[in-house]
Amino acid sequence: MAIEKTLCILKPDAVKSGNMGNIIAHIQKEGFKILGLKMVRLSDRSAGKFYEVHKERPFYSGLVEFMSSGACVPIALEKENGIAEWRRVIGATDPAEAAPGTIRKLYATSKGENAVHGSDSVENGLREISFFFTEGELADLGL
Ligand code: RTP
Ligand code: MG
Repeated sequence: MAIEKTLCILKPDAVKSGNMGNIIAHIQKEGFKILGLKMVRLSDRSAGKFYEVHKERPFYSGLVEFMSSGACVPIALEKENGIAEWRRVIGATDPAEAAPGTIRKLYATSKGENAVHGSDSVENGLREISFFFTEGELADLGL
């Protein structure tokens, strides 16, 4: 299987609840390589642009409001079969449906405020990583 990059975001609920460290430890325990990590506060406009694919969905305005409500921590990750692996580790969108031990089961509070983001394809992973990181911000330290 191929090595793939994916974008994780620790969403504002996870930052506010003090679970950044727990989730980063979980990421490392699952064997992902961290290529880049920063803390940002998204404007309405940039949150809207990031989730533009959902523009027509009923939850879009709430999602944009939530994602711009506090600090987020985008993290560029890499692993073999990384897209599917990261989605396995985070669990279903709705924590009520997420498998035991997944990040959303452990730390999310609702379907909207669900602690973390994960890219849904290799192509979107690369696009989403470049939304937050320049090439010079992505280190490969071989850790
Ligand atoms: P994400 O993109 O954030 O990793 O989440 P996902 O693939 O599991 O879910 P997606 O369908 O892409 O939805 C994006 C985010 O929108 C919010 N949402 N709220 N209230 C609702 O019914 C609802 N549905 C989706 C969540 O924050 C979801 O992660
Ligand atoms: Mg999605």
